[in-house]
Amino acid sequence: MKSSRLAVSLLTSTLLAAGALAGVAAPAFAADTDVTQRPPVASTIATVSSPSGVLTVDVALDVNGSLAYSVKHMGKEVISPSRLGLVLSNAPKLDRNFSLVEAKTSSHDETWEQPWGEWRFIRDNHNELRVTVAQKGYMKEGRQLTVVFRVFDDGIGFRYEFPDQPQLKHLSIVDELSEFAVVDNSTAWWNAAGEWNREEYPVDKTPLKEVSLAQTPLTLKTDNGLYMTFHEAALVDYAAVWLRRVNGQRLKVQLAPTGEPGKKSVERDAPSATPWRTVLIADSAPGLYMSHVMLNLNEPNKLGDVSWVQPYKYVGIWWDMHLGTRTWEAGPKHGATTEYTKKYMDFAAKNGFRGVLVEGWNKGWEDWFATGHLFKFDEPYPDFDIAELSAYGLKKGVHLIGHHETGGNIANYEPQMNAGYAFYQKYAVDSIKTGYVADAGGAQAMGPDGIYFTWNDSQDMVRHYQKVVTEAAKYKIAIDTHEPIKDTGLRRTYPNWVSREGQRGMEYNAWGAPPNAPEHDPELVFTRMLAGPMDYTPGVLSLQGNNQPIASTQARQLALYVVIYSPIQMAADLIENYDKYPGPFQFIKDVAVDWSDTRVLNGEPGDFATIARKDRNSETWFLGAVTDENGRTFDVPLSFLDAGRTYTAEIYRDGPNADMTGDARFDIVIEKKTVTAGDVLPARLAPGGGLAVRFVPQGAAPKKRK
Ligand code: NOJ
Ligand code: CA
Repeated sequence: MKSSRLAVSLLTSTLLAAGALAGVAAPAFAADTDVTQRPPVASTIATVSSPSGVLTVDVALDVNGSLAYSVKHMGKEVISPSRLGLVLSNAPKLDRNFSLVEAKTSSHDETWEQPWGEWRFIRDNHNELRVTVAQKGYMKEGRQLTVVFRVFDDGIGFRYEFPDQPQLKHLSIVDELSEFAVVDNSTAWWNAAGEWNREEYPVDKTPLKEVSLAQTPLTLKTDNGLYMTFHEAALVDYAAVWLRRVNGQRLKVQLAPTGEPGKKSVERDAPSATPWRTVLIADSAPGLYMSHVMLNLNEPNKLGDVSWVQPYKYVGIWWDMHLGTRTWEAGPKHGATTEYTKKYMDFAAKNGFRGVLVEGWNKGWEDWFATGHLFKFDEPYPDFDIAELSAYGLKKGVHLIGHHETGGNIANYEPQMNAGYAFYQKYAVDSIKTGYVADAGGAQAMGPDGIYFTWNDSQDMVRHYQKVVTEAAKYKIAIDTHEPIKDTGLRRTYPNWVSREGQRGMEYNAWGAPPNAPEHDPELVFTRMLAGPMDYTPGVLSLQGNNQPIASTQARQLALYVVIYSPIQMAADLIENYDKYPGPFQFIKDVAVDWSDTRVLNGEPGDFATIARKDRNSETWFLGAVTDENGRTFDVPLSFLDAGRTYTAEIYRDGPNADMTGDARFDIVIEKKTVTAGDVLPARLAPGGGLAVRFVPQGAAPKKRK
């Protein structure tokens, strides 16, 4: 940290004392008053601006000594005074009677390297404000609380820190009072919270005034054209944030319930800190995606050498089960057989895929939907010879990808997990897809062993998901979590947490009712994808689910590899379907999975999105564009390409008759053009369509001028 060079306005102690002692009459910042009816903020106690002055945060104490903050964008208030504080069950509330002890600022400007990701280098440039307040009134020593703000040009984060102090050794946190009072009329894209077991829903689009209880990320667009996303970073040992709209456009943090029956709080010892509550703020939807606030608010890599974490593409014994033609459990239609796996391994080797995922290899699937209590993680079904398959694959440079479906039954999984990782390590399995499908029973239902299933977003489950990642790291195993806790950027700290699901992926096109609408993908780009990588499992070129067609053109299936980021990408279709469509399949073989640079070229939530990415291991650029149910025509300036180079653009575009229904979905044109950074690519996307391009440099790189 560099030394402070920021203005911090500290008011006189008289003013502060007056504020702290003021009468009890007005219930300042009470949840049931509207923004406009709030009592005037008594005093701003500290201010911090972002490095270029785009955003400013003011922190204030009101007449009751309650803390609030507000946010200005280019000098205009966009978040009006919003409450801060916590409610404890083992001690009085941390919500009022505060006076300022100290406000300190510092600046930070550092560039760090991601081991894998959408960008190789990430700049972390922010100004920090630490406001420490003391609470008078119930103990003569006072209790202290620190609120830390980090202010970037494209977003803010704040968190509570609980200092080491004799009068607050342990915190039982039952409520968090943090609010976000949005000033301008807004439209929101969001998912309901409150379901105990999953996060896989179509995205809702409503006026912000109609949001009830939402998961994060929640993205909004104001009537003035400003975009904001509310989320959290570094969710560690705490309950996840949900947002309840308390009135008007005021959202209040509601902590997810606990996993343990009868337990109502987050339990933390001091000293400690909460996760960061975050707001991304940008002039455009692409600006939200281009923000690095989420990663910058996470701690650096704690695993040391992570060269064993490898981005890759994979195929797998998977879509068959979703189509219902094969089964996870053993039996006449069992998918995970030695013979069938070898076919996939042969295909992977021939087409350059590193991984073969095999689901349904282990004992216990008979009871998956009931309680998951039969799952064994080191006992294959007898028709799956893992030793033979591991050796067979490795000879061809192909790795088995592990699968641990838990059924959400943590009590069954945790005692077995280390044995499961050791078992896989023995067979050179260096990544595992996990699963938490828990459809039966309802929240906290009792299983036959007396165990209970837990809220995905609870502190207990936050701990569980992290434990999986840190334990697996001991075996040099990467984790791809399905039915995960939401992503909050922890891949920076634990780079073996390579991907997760956490929204509706391709599987919903097999059996979902309804399946994913075309608007789903451009919604994901500006909601779910702002949290981190998603294992969406794209590339179903057959465009066919289980008795339902997929509302997508073939070109769109290719575009998804660029638009929906994950360092591990599946070619999800049956391998025999790839043999039917060698033309478009070529793009899936060619597309990269690890990037040195990413540019979001255009987009609106739920409408369309175009993204360009540069391969980290070559000079090749890729581009993907998707649209909703509306066809679209627009120009794509190719100025992202490296200047002075000529490229062969291999274009996979919707054909003249392409459409999202019937045979028209297969109308694709594959053509080549020579282009440079000065050119403009005309894009014509069919309804439910897409565009995918690979830009291969011609000749050697031009010499750099000295
Ligand atoms: C749900 C996952 O999202 C899917 O990919 C997997 O095949 C099933 N669970 C079974 O584990
Ligand atoms: Ca799922």
